Amino acid sequence: VERLFDESYVRVLSQEVDGQAFFAAFYERFVAASPEVAEKFRQTDMARQQAMLKKGFYHLLAFYASSHADYYLDQVAISHSRAHLDIRPGLYDLWLEALIDTVRSFDEQFDDEVELAWRLVMTPGIVYMRFHYDR
Ligand code: HEM
Repeated sequence: VERLFDESYVRVLSQEVDGQAFFAAFYERFVAASPEVAEKFRQTDMARQQAMLKKGFYHLLAFYASSHADYYLDQVAISHSRAHLDIRPGLYDLWLEALIDTVRSFDEQFDDEVELAWRLVMTPGIVYMRFHYDR
């Protein structure tokens, strides 16, 4: 799983589709996924959007690799909880589906095994984020 994921990740980062880099395409897809998501990002500038995608991604991967939340992921989980950004758990499904769709269009070697590897790598961090919605 790690190897399939790592190799796919390298491929998508080196790729542009319609002149767009991977993270930009992912963000666009995610925001287009529902009016609720678009509304949450209404006030967000490019710089914060980049922080969310790249840095957040890195810490999700670290969580998968170690099963321990680092301080940063902890802070991100708190910032997304009901009391703060109020990102309800269902929105993480949209997040993951937007991500998988983006990988599908960026990775020319995309197949079921690659898809499963992405889902497995992302899931522990997503579970962690969702779990902290109400606590
Ligand atoms: C901000 C990560 C899922 C909405 C951020 C930030 C990070 C991050 C690192 C910036 C720092 C912070 O505010 O704590 C992640 C990760 C996710 C995830 C790793 C998935 C596991 C979501 C989802 C939504 C969302 C599902 C739903 C709409 C937001 C919003 C901000 C934000 C609205 C604040 C943007 C602003 O400052 O205007 N996220 N996020 N995130 N995230 Fe997420």
